[in-house]
Amino acid sequence: MKRDGFGSRLGILAAAAGSAIGLGNIWKFPYITGENGGAAFILVYLVCIFLIGMPVMLSELVVGRKGASNPVGSFKKIRPKSKWKFTGVLGVATGFIVLSFYSVIAGWVFAYISRAFTGKLVAIAPEELGDFFGGLISKTGEPIFWQFIVLAVTAFIVIAGIQKGVEKYSKILMPVLLGLLVVLMIRSVTLEGASKGLEFLFKPDFSALTAKGVLEALGHAFFSLSLGMGALLTYGSYINKEEKLPSLALQITIADTLIALMAGVVIFPAVFAYGLDPKMGPELIFITLPTVFHEMPLGGFFEVLFFVLIGIAAITSTISLLEVPVSYVSEEFNMPRKKTTIIIAFVIFLIGIPSSLSFGVLGDVTIFGRTYFGNLDFVASNIMLPLGGLLLSLFIGWVWGTKNAIQEATNEGTLKFAFASAYGFLIKYVAPLAIVVILLYATGVIS
Ligand code: PFF
Repeated sequence: MKRDGFGSRLGILAAAAGSAIGLGNIWKFPYITGENGGAAFILVYLVCIFLIGMPVMLSELVVGRKGASNPVGSFKKIRPKSKWKFTGVLGVATGFIVLSFYSVIAGWVFAYISRAFTGKLVAIAPEELGDFFGGLISKTGEPIFWQFIVLAVTAFIVIAGIQKGVEKYSKILMPVLLGLLVVLMIRSVTLEGASKGLEFLFKPDFSALTAKGVLEALGHAFFSLSLGMGALLTYGSYINKEEKLPSLALQITIADTLIALMAGVVIFPAVFAYGLDPKMGPELIFITLPTVFHEMPLGGFFEVLFFVLIGIAAITSTISLLEVPVSYVSEEFNMPRKKTTIIIAFVIFLIGIPSSLSFGVLGDVTIFGRTYFGNLDFVASNIMLPLGGLLLSLFIGWVWGTKNAIQEATNEGTLKFAFASAYGFLIKYVAPLAIVVILLYATGVIS
Protein backbone atom coordinates (compact mmCIF):
# COMPACT_ATOMS: atom_id res chain seq x y z
CA MET A 1 0.00 0.00 0.00
CA LYS A 2 1.25 3.47 -0.84
CA ARG A 3 2.03 5.55 2.24
CA ASP A 4 -0.08 8.63 2.81
CA GLY A 5 1.71 11.96 2.40
CA PHE A 6 1.29 15.71 2.50
CA GLY A 7 -0.21 17.38 -0.58
CA SER A 8 1.40 20.81 -0.50
CA ARG A 9 4.12 22.89 1.09
CA LEU A 10 1.55 25.04 2.86
CA GLY A 11 -0.14 21.91 4.15
CA ILE A 12 3.12 20.61 5.61
CA LEU A 13 3.84 23.88 7.32
CA ALA A 14 0.30 24.18 8.69
CA ALA A 15 0.31 20.64 10.04
CA ALA A 16 3.79 20.85 11.58
CA ALA A 17 3.19 24.31 13.00
CA GLY A 18 -0.22 23.03 14.11
CA SER A 19 1.53 20.29 16.05
CA ALA A 20 3.95 22.70 17.65
CA ILE A 21 1.39 25.39 18.41
CA GLY A 22 -1.02 24.23 21.05
CA LEU A 23 -1.77 24.29 24.75
CA GLY A 24 1.98 24.50 25.26
CA ASN A 25 1.96 28.00 23.80
CA ILE A 26 -1.30 29.38 25.06
CA TRP A 27 -1.82 27.58 28.36
CA LYS A 28 1.56 26.36 29.60
CA PHE A 29 4.02 29.00 28.40
CA PRO A 30 2.22 31.89 30.12
CA TYR A 31 1.76 30.08 33.40
CA ILE A 32 5.31 28.75 33.71
CA THR A 33 6.62 32.16 32.67
CA GLY A 34 4.51 33.59 35.48
CA GLU A 35 5.81 31.07 38.00
CA ASN A 36 9.41 31.67 36.99
CA GLY A 37 9.42 35.44 37.19
CA GLY A 38 8.96 36.57 33.58
CA ALA A 39 11.53 38.01 31.18
CA ALA A 40 14.70 36.27 32.41
CA PHE A 41 12.97 32.90 32.04
CA ILE A 42 11.85 33.86 28.54
CA LEU A 43 15.42 34.69 27.55
CA VAL A 44 16.66 31.28 28.67
CA TYR A 45 13.73 29.71 26.87
CA LEU A 46 14.65 31.51 23.63
CA VAL A 47 18.26 30.32 23.88
CA CYS A 48 17.01 26.74 24.35
CA ILE A 49 14.61 27.08 21.42
CA PHE A 50 17.14 28.33 18.91
CA LEU A 51 20.36 26.60 19.99
CA ILE A 52 18.93 23.22 20.96
CA GLY A 53 15.32 22.99 19.80
CA MET A 54 15.77 24.03 16.20
CA PRO A 55 18.71 21.69 15.44
CA VAL A 56 16.85 18.81 17.09
CA MET A 57 13.78 19.67 15.03
CA LEU A 58 15.71 19.58 11.78
CA SER A 59 17.21 16.27 12.86
CA GLU A 60 13.78 14.75 13.48
CA LEU A 61 12.52 15.88 10.08
CA VAL A 62 15.65 14.54 8.40
CA VAL A 63 15.54 11.12 10.09
CA GLY A 64 11.82 10.82 9.32
CA ARG A 65 12.16 11.70 5.68
CA LYS A 66 15.21 9.49 5.22
CA GLY A 67 13.60 6.55 7.00
CA ALA A 68 10.18 7.21 5.41
CA SER A 69 8.55 5.41 8.29
CA ASN A 70 7.30 5.70 11.88
CA PRO A 71 9.89 6.55 14.59
CA VAL A 72 10.85 2.93 15.21
CA GLY A 73 10.81 1.97 11.52
CA SER A 74 12.90 4.99 10.55
CA PHE A 75 15.74 4.16 12.95
CA LYS A 76 15.55 0.54 11.79
CA LYS A 77 15.88 1.60 8.19
CA ILE A 78 18.85 3.90 8.76
CA ARG A 79 20.67 1.59 11.21
CA PRO A 80 19.30 -1.92 10.72
CA LYS A 81 19.75 -4.46 13.51
CA SER A 82 20.93 -1.85 16.01
CA LYS A 83 19.45 -0.78 19.32
CA TRP A 84 18.67 2.69 18.00
CA LYS A 85 15.12 1.62 17.29
CA PHE A 86 14.53 1.93 21.03
CA THR A 87 14.79 5.69 20.65
CA GLY A 88 11.63 5.33 18.61
CA VAL A 89 10.07 3.05 21.22
CA LEU A 90 10.79 5.67 23.89
CA GLY A 91 9.06 8.23 21.68
CA VAL A 92 5.98 6.07 21.32
CA ALA A 93 5.80 5.58 25.09
CA THR A 94 6.20 9.32 25.63
CA GLY A 95 3.37 9.91 23.17
CA PHE A 96 1.03 7.78 25.26
CA ILE A 97 1.89 9.69 28.41
CA VAL A 98 1.81 13.21 26.98
CA LEU A 99 -1.49 12.68 25.21
CA SER A 100 -3.02 11.14 28.34
CA PHE A 101 -2.60 14.34 30.35
CA TYR A 102 -2.74 16.80 27.46
CA SER A 103 -6.26 15.58 26.67
CA VAL A 104 -7.31 16.47 30.22
CA ILE A 105 -6.38 20.13 29.76
CA ALA A 106 -7.87 20.17 26.28
CA GLY A 107 -11.01 18.78 27.93
CA TRP A 108 -11.12 21.81 30.26
CA VAL A 109 -10.98 24.02 27.18
CA PHE A 110 -13.91 22.10 25.68
CA ALA A 111 -15.87 22.50 28.92
CA TYR A 112 -15.21 26.25 28.77
CA ILE A 113 -16.36 26.32 25.14
CA SER A 114 -19.64 24.68 26.09
CA ARG A 115 -20.27 27.42 28.65
CA ALA A 116 -19.03 30.21 26.42
CA PHE A 117 -21.60 29.25 23.80
CA THR A 118 -24.51 29.59 26.19
CA GLY A 119 -23.19 32.94 27.40
CA LYS A 120 -22.79 31.56 30.91
CA LEU A 121 -19.06 32.07 31.09
CA VAL A 122 -19.04 35.73 30.18
CA ALA A 123 -21.68 36.40 32.83
CA ILE A 124 -19.48 35.17 35.68
CA ALA A 125 -18.09 38.01 37.80
CA PRO A 126 -14.27 38.09 37.80
CA GLU A 127 -14.01 37.48 41.54
CA GLU A 128 -15.99 34.27 41.12
CA LEU A 129 -13.95 32.83 38.28
CA GLY A 130 -11.46 31.12 40.59
CA ASP A 131 -14.21 29.18 42.34
CA PHE A 132 -15.91 28.41 39.07
CA PHE A 133 -12.73 26.98 37.58
CA GLY A 134 -11.82 25.06 40.74
CA GLY A 135 -15.33 23.65 40.91
CA LEU A 136 -15.24 22.51 37.31
CA ILE A 137 -11.90 20.71 37.28
CA SER A 138 -12.44 19.02 40.63
CA LYS A 139 -15.63 17.32 39.44
CA THR A 140 -15.35 13.63 38.72
CA GLY A 141 -17.57 13.00 35.73
CA GLU A 142 -17.61 16.10 33.56
CA PRO A 143 -13.87 16.62 32.93
CA ILE A 144 -13.54 12.92 32.07
CA PHE A 145 -16.43 13.25 29.66
CA TRP A 146 -14.72 16.16 27.87
CA GLN A 147 -11.41 14.35 27.85
CA PHE A 148 -13.17 11.50 26.08
CA ILE A 149 -14.62 13.91 23.51
CA VAL A 150 -11.16 15.38 22.85
CA LEU A 151 -9.73 11.95 22.17
CA ALA A 152 -12.71 10.95 20.03
CA VAL A 153 -12.35 14.03 17.81
CA THR A 154 -8.60 13.41 17.58
CA ALA A 155 -9.12 9.78 16.62
CA PHE A 156 -11.67 10.79 13.99
CA ILE A 157 -9.18 13.09 12.25
CA VAL A 158 -6.30 10.62 12.55
CA ILE A 159 -8.46 7.92 10.95
CA ALA A 160 -9.14 10.27 8.03
CA GLY A 161 -5.38 10.26 7.41
CA ILE A 162 -2.75 12.86 6.62
CA GLN A 163 -4.01 14.72 3.57
CA LYS A 164 -7.74 14.57 4.17
CA GLY A 165 -7.49 14.95 7.92
CA VAL A 166 -4.45 16.60 9.42
CA GLU A 167 -3.55 18.84 6.47
CA LYS A 168 -7.05 19.98 5.53
CA TYR A 169 -7.98 21.17 8.99
CA SER A 170 -4.66 22.71 9.96
CA LYS A 171 -4.51 24.89 6.85
CA ILE A 172 -7.71 26.74 7.65
CA LEU A 173 -7.51 26.95 11.38
CA MET A 174 -4.01 28.18 12.11
CA PRO A 175 -4.36 31.54 10.30
CA VAL A 176 -7.63 32.29 12.12
CA LEU A 177 -5.89 31.71 15.44
CA LEU A 178 -3.18 34.18 14.51
CA GLY A 179 -5.73 36.88 13.60
CA LEU A 180 -7.63 36.50 16.82
CA LEU A 181 -4.48 36.67 18.92
CA VAL A 182 -3.70 40.02 17.31
CA VAL A 183 -7.16 41.37 18.23
CA LEU A 184 -6.72 40.25 21.83
CA MET A 185 -3.21 41.63 22.06
CA ILE A 186 -4.53 45.03 21.10
CA ARG A 187 -7.27 44.74 23.71
CA SER A 188 -4.85 43.67 26.39
CA VAL A 189 -2.10 46.24 25.87
CA THR A 190 -4.62 49.09 25.79
CA LEU A 191 -5.96 48.21 29.24
CA GLU A 192 -5.10 50.67 31.96
CA GLY A 193 -2.06 49.41 33.84
CA ALA A 194 -0.97 47.14 31.00
CA SER A 195 2.60 48.41 30.97
CA LYS A 196 3.47 46.51 34.17
CA GLY A 197 2.61 43.30 32.35
CA LEU A 198 4.82 44.19 29.42
CA GLU A 199 7.66 45.00 31.79
CA PHE A 200 7.22 41.62 33.47
CA LEU A 201 7.48 39.98 30.05
CA PHE A 202 10.32 41.93 28.55
CA LYS A 203 12.48 43.44 31.31
CA PRO A 204 14.64 40.66 32.71
CA ASP A 205 15.26 40.33 36.41
CA PHE A 206 17.85 37.59 36.68
CA SER A 207 17.47 37.28 40.41
CA ALA A 208 14.08 35.66 39.68
CA LEU A 209 15.73 32.88 37.71
CA THR A 210 16.43 29.54 39.41
CA ALA A 211 18.05 26.26 38.31
CA LYS A 212 14.57 24.79 38.31
CA GLY A 213 13.56 27.54 35.92
CA VAL A 214 16.35 26.65 33.51
CA LEU A 215 15.29 23.00 33.61
CA GLU A 216 11.72 23.97 32.91
CA ALA A 217 12.78 26.25 30.06
CA LEU A 218 14.56 23.44 28.26
CA GLY A 219 11.79 20.91 28.96
CA HIS A 220 9.26 23.37 27.68
CA ALA A 221 11.30 24.12 24.56
CA PHE A 222 10.97 20.43 23.67
CA PHE A 223 7.33 20.29 24.62
CA SER A 224 6.39 23.43 22.73
CA LEU A 225 8.22 22.48 19.55
CA SER A 226 6.79 18.92 19.71
CA LEU A 227 10.28 17.45 19.94
CA GLY A 228 11.82 14.41 21.53
CA MET A 229 9.10 11.85 20.90
CA GLY A 230 9.07 11.50 17.14
CA ALA A 231 6.00 13.58 16.29
CA LEU A 232 7.87 15.72 13.79
CA LEU A 233 9.91 12.69 12.76
CA THR A 234 6.63 11.05 11.80
CA TYR A 235 5.46 14.15 9.94
CA GLY A 236 8.88 14.27 8.26
CA SER A 237 8.23 10.79 6.92
CA TYR A 238 5.24 12.12 4.98
CA ILE A 239 7.25 14.92 3.34
CA ASN A 240 8.49 14.50 -0.22
CA LYS A 241 12.13 14.70 -1.25
CA GLU A 242 11.92 18.15 -2.87
CA GLU A 243 10.94 20.01 0.29
CA LYS A 244 13.49 22.27 1.98
CA LEU A 245 13.73 20.91 5.50
CA PRO A 246 16.06 23.57 7.02
CA SER A 247 13.76 26.42 6.10
CA LEU A 248 10.77 24.40 7.25
CA ALA A 249 12.39 23.90 10.67
CA LEU A 250 13.14 27.62 10.87
CA GLN A 251 9.58 28.59 9.96
CA ILE A 252 7.99 26.20 12.46
CA THR A 253 10.30 27.42 15.21
CA ILE A 254 9.59 31.07 14.52
CA ALA A 255 5.83 30.52 14.26
CA ASP A 256 5.76 28.58 17.53
CA THR A 257 7.83 31.14 19.40
CA LEU A 258 5.84 34.04 18.03
CA ILE A 259 2.53 32.53 19.12
CA ALA A 260 3.86 31.83 22.62
CA LEU A 261 5.10 35.41 22.98
CA MET A 262 1.82 36.73 21.61
CA ALA A 263 -0.06 34.64 24.16
CA GLY A 264 2.17 36.24 26.79
CA VAL A 265 1.29 39.70 25.51
CA VAL A 266 -2.40 38.81 25.69
CA ILE A 267 -2.19 37.40 29.22
CA PHE A 268 0.25 39.46 31.31
CA PRO A 269 -0.94 43.00 30.67
CA ALA A 270 -4.40 41.73 31.66
CA VAL A 271 -3.03 39.93 34.72
CA PHE A 272 -1.46 43.14 36.01
CA ALA A 273 -4.27 45.44 34.88
CA TYR A 274 -6.82 43.39 36.86
CA GLY A 275 -4.55 42.78 39.84
CA LEU A 276 -4.35 39.00 39.33
CA ASP A 277 -1.43 36.86 40.48
CA PRO A 278 1.05 35.96 37.69
CA LYS A 279 2.21 32.99 39.76
CA MET A 280 -1.20 31.37 40.07
CA GLY A 281 -0.25 28.33 37.99
CA PRO A 282 -2.24 26.14 35.56
CA GLU A 283 -5.43 28.13 36.06
CA LEU A 284 -3.82 31.34 34.75
CA ILE A 285 -5.48 31.54 31.32
CA PHE A 286 -8.74 30.04 32.57
CA ILE A 287 -9.16 32.92 34.99
CA THR A 288 -7.39 35.79 33.24
CA LEU A 289 -9.06 35.47 29.84
CA PRO A 290 -12.65 35.32 31.10
CA THR A 291 -11.85 38.37 33.24
CA VAL A 292 -10.82 40.26 30.10
CA PHE A 293 -13.87 39.08 28.16
CA HIS A 294 -16.22 39.94 31.01
CA GLU A 295 -15.13 43.56 30.84
CA MET A 296 -14.78 43.84 27.06
CA PRO A 297 -17.35 45.06 24.52
CA LEU A 298 -18.65 42.04 22.57
CA GLY A 299 -16.81 39.95 25.16
CA GLY A 300 -19.19 37.01 24.85
CA PHE A 301 -18.58 36.75 21.14
CA PHE A 302 -14.81 36.98 21.40
CA GLU A 303 -14.85 34.50 24.24
CA VAL A 304 -16.52 31.82 22.13
CA LEU A 305 -14.15 32.47 19.28
CA PHE A 306 -11.04 32.41 21.41
CA PHE A 307 -11.77 29.25 23.35
CA VAL A 308 -12.82 27.50 20.15
CA LEU A 309 -9.47 28.46 18.69
CA ILE A 310 -7.53 27.23 21.71
CA GLY A 311 -9.52 24.02 21.35
CA ILE A 312 -8.51 23.78 17.73
CA ALA A 313 -4.87 24.56 18.45
CA ALA A 314 -5.00 21.74 21.00
CA ILE A 315 -6.54 19.32 18.49
CA THR A 316 -3.91 20.00 15.80
CA SER A 317 -1.39 19.00 18.50
CA THR A 318 -3.27 15.95 19.80
CA ILE A 319 -3.48 14.54 16.29
CA SER A 320 0.30 14.67 15.97
CA LEU A 321 0.62 13.04 19.39
CA LEU A 322 -1.74 10.22 18.43
CA GLU A 323 -0.15 9.82 15.00
CA VAL A 324 3.11 8.60 16.62
CA PRO A 325 1.78 5.41 18.29
CA VAL A 326 -0.76 4.85 15.50
CA SER A 327 1.85 4.93 12.73
CA TYR A 328 4.12 2.71 14.82
CA VAL A 329 1.56 0.02 15.62
CA SER A 330 -0.16 0.02 12.24
CA GLU A 331 3.09 -0.14 10.26
CA GLU A 332 5.22 -2.38 12.45
CA PHE A 333 2.47 -4.85 13.33
CA ASN A 334 0.54 -4.56 10.10
CA MET A 335 -2.72 -3.58 11.73
CA PRO A 336 -5.51 -1.63 10.02
CA ARG A 337 -5.20 2.09 10.73
CA LYS A 338 -8.77 2.57 11.88
CA LYS A 339 -8.81 -0.24 14.41
CA THR A 340 -5.36 0.73 15.71
CA THR A 341 -6.41 4.34 16.20
CA ILE A 342 -9.53 3.43 18.15
CA ILE A 343 -7.75 1.00 20.45
CA ILE A 344 -4.82 3.31 21.17
CA ALA A 345 -7.04 6.34 21.78
CA PHE A 346 -9.06 4.29 24.24
CA VAL A 347 -6.00 3.07 26.13
CA ILE A 348 -4.75 6.66 26.34
CA PHE A 349 -8.14 7.70 27.67
CA LEU A 350 -7.85 5.10 30.46
CA ILE A 351 -4.31 6.20 31.37
CA GLY A 352 -5.55 9.79 31.46
CA ILE A 353 -8.43 9.29 33.88
CA PRO A 354 -6.30 9.54 37.06
CA SER A 355 -4.75 12.71 35.63
CA SER A 356 -8.17 14.26 35.46
CA LEU A 357 -8.97 13.07 38.98
CA SER A 358 -5.71 14.61 40.23
CA PHE A 359 -7.59 17.89 40.39
CA GLY A 360 -10.41 16.36 42.42
CA VAL A 361 -10.73 13.15 44.41
CA LEU A 362 -7.10 12.14 43.85
CA GLY A 363 -5.80 15.61 44.68
CA ASP A 364 -4.28 14.49 47.96
CA VAL A 365 -2.59 11.41 46.58
CA THR A 366 0.98 12.47 45.93
CA ILE A 367 4.26 10.75 45.14
CA PHE A 368 7.49 12.79 45.35
CA GLY A 369 5.27 15.70 46.35
CA ARG A 370 3.40 15.67 43.06
CA THR A 371 0.01 14.41 42.00
CA TYR A 372 -0.41 11.72 39.34
CA PHE A 373 -0.88 14.51 36.78
CA GLY A 374 2.11 16.44 38.12
CA ASN A 375 4.34 13.38 37.92
CA LEU A 376 3.34 12.51 34.36
CA ASP A 377 3.88 16.09 33.23
CA PHE A 378 7.25 16.30 35.00
CA VAL A 379 8.55 12.95 33.79
CA ALA A 380 7.36 13.39 30.21
CA SER A 381 8.27 17.06 29.70
CA ASN A 382 11.41 17.34 31.79
CA ILE A 383 12.90 13.86 31.41
CA MET A 384 11.50 11.79 28.55
CA LEU A 385 11.33 14.50 25.86
CA PRO A 386 14.86 15.82 26.58
CA LEU A 387 16.12 12.21 26.72
CA GLY A 388 14.55 11.55 23.31
CA GLY A 389 16.25 14.69 22.01
CA LEU A 390 19.57 13.60 23.53
CA LEU A 391 19.44 10.17 21.89
CA LEU A 392 18.50 11.70 18.56
CA SER A 393 21.35 14.21 18.68
CA LEU A 394 23.84 11.49 19.65
CA PHE A 395 22.52 9.37 16.80
CA ILE A 396 23.02 12.17 14.28
CA GLY A 397 26.26 13.53 15.69
CA TRP A 398 28.08 10.32 16.49
CA VAL A 399 26.45 7.38 14.73
CA TRP A 400 24.81 8.26 11.44
CA GLY A 401 27.03 11.32 11.08
CA THR A 402 26.25 14.98 10.54
CA LYS A 403 27.47 14.66 6.94
CA ASN A 404 24.76 12.18 6.09
CA ALA A 405 22.15 14.25 7.90
CA ILE A 406 23.21 17.37 6.00
CA GLN A 407 23.12 15.39 2.73
CA GLU A 408 19.49 14.52 3.42
CA ALA A 409 18.66 18.04 4.61
CA THR A 410 20.08 19.57 1.41
CA ASN A 411 18.40 17.01 -0.85
CA GLU A 412 21.72 15.36 -1.67
CA GLY A 413 23.63 18.63 -1.89
CA THR A 414 21.30 20.31 -4.38
CA LEU A 415 20.04 22.92 -1.92
CA LYS A 416 21.87 25.71 -0.21
CA PHE A 417 21.98 25.37 3.56
CA ALA A 418 23.91 28.36 4.87
CA PHE A 419 23.99 27.15 8.46
CA ALA A 420 25.00 23.57 7.75
CA SER A 421 28.22 23.69 9.74
CA ALA A 422 26.57 25.54 12.63
CA TYR A 423 23.87 22.87 12.62
CA GLY A 424 26.50 20.12 12.66
CA PHE A 425 28.30 21.71 15.62
CA LEU A 426 25.14 22.34 17.62
CA ILE A 427 23.72 18.86 17.15
CA LYS A 428 27.01 17.07 17.77
CA TYR A 429 28.32 18.98 20.79
CA VAL A 430 26.07 21.69 22.19
CA ALA A 431 22.72 19.92 22.29
CA PRO A 432 23.93 16.66 23.90
CA LEU A 433 26.06 18.46 26.47
CA ALA A 434 23.34 20.90 27.49
CA ILE A 435 20.71 18.17 27.68
CA VAL A 436 22.95 15.90 29.78
CA VAL A 437 23.57 18.67 32.31
CA ILE A 438 19.88 19.42 32.55
CA LEU A 439 18.93 15.76 32.86
CA LEU A 440 21.44 15.26 35.66
CA TYR A 441 19.82 18.14 37.45
CA ALA A 442 16.28 16.86 36.76
CA THR A 443 17.11 13.46 38.17
CA GLY A 444 18.80 14.96 41.21
CA VAL A 445 22.33 13.73 40.40
CA ILE A 446 23.58 17.33 40.57
CA SER A 447 21.89 20.12 42.39
N1 PFF B 1 3.78 21.20 21.00
C1 PFF B 1 2.49 20.98 21.60
C2 PFF B 1 2.11 22.22 22.37
O1 PFF B 1 2.93 23.12 22.53
O2 PFF B 1 0.98 22.29 22.83
C3 PFF B 1 2.47 19.74 22.48
C4 PFF B 1 3.10 18.54 21.87
C5 PFF B 1 2.62 18.03 20.66
C6 PFF B 1 4.21 17.95 22.46
C7 PFF B 1 3.25 16.96 20.06
C8 PFF B 1 4.83 16.88 21.88
C9 PFF B 1 4.35 16.41 20.69
F1 PFF B 1 4.95 15.41 20.14
